Amino acid sequence: MAVTKSSKAGTKKSASKKAARSKSAKTKNGNKSASNGSEKMNRGNSPIEKFFTDMLKDMYYTEEKLIEALGKMESAATTEELKEAFNDHAHQSKKHQRRLEKVFELIGKKAEAKKCDAIEGIINEAEKIIEETPEGSMTRDAALIIAAQKAEHYEIASYGSLVQLAITMGLNNVADLLDDILTEEERTDQLLTDIAETSINMQAENEEAAYSWMD
Ligand SMILES: [Fe+2]
Ligand SMILES: [Fe+2]
Repeated sequence: MAVTKSSKAGTKKSASKKAARSKSAKTKNGNKSASNGSEKMNRGNSPIEKFFTDMLKDMYYTEEKLIEALGKMESAATTEELKEAFNDHAHQSKKHQRRLEKVFELIGKKAEAKKCDAIEGIINEAEKIIEETPEGSMTRDAALIIAAQKAEHYEIASYGSLVQLAITMGLNNVADLLDDILTEEERTDQLLTDIAETSINMQAENEEAAYSWMD
């Protein structure tokens, strides 16, 4: 399947971006994680600071929704390997929520979720896959991996942008916390690529096409 090939390329790009990110963080921060105290935004309520806070609320919502969705995807998946990957990432996502709460605390804002239409769409697509693919098939697993990678890529784009904005605003501890989340999203994306390429895509490709849902 072509999808995992492009995901792999995306992951490589992310890895090199990560190196640039660390360099940039060190240059900007001087001493990374110098303090554990709160980090007030410079101007309080500038448009970009408001946008940053809104994005954090968006991701707080996203993590909650993904925890629910990963549970459904775990139950629906065919292989134990994929079930385990979804279960592990649901646990990681709970940690992401806690880290976001810490970020809200550091910038002196209340942790709030704001409905995110983008993740709603991606999750709806995953639910449709569960409805439309046969239970116990490798086709379902291959399609669920793609759905999960769409969610991961959404998170990677969002957290990557948040890290860069935090660095620009001099919010060093905030940038570190968000970068920790970003690293786990990137690892999950790579793990899903590995699972797909090791066996699932190949087995899906060989699966008999005589399913009623194919017409
Ligand atoms: Fe996450
Ligand atoms: Fe994630």
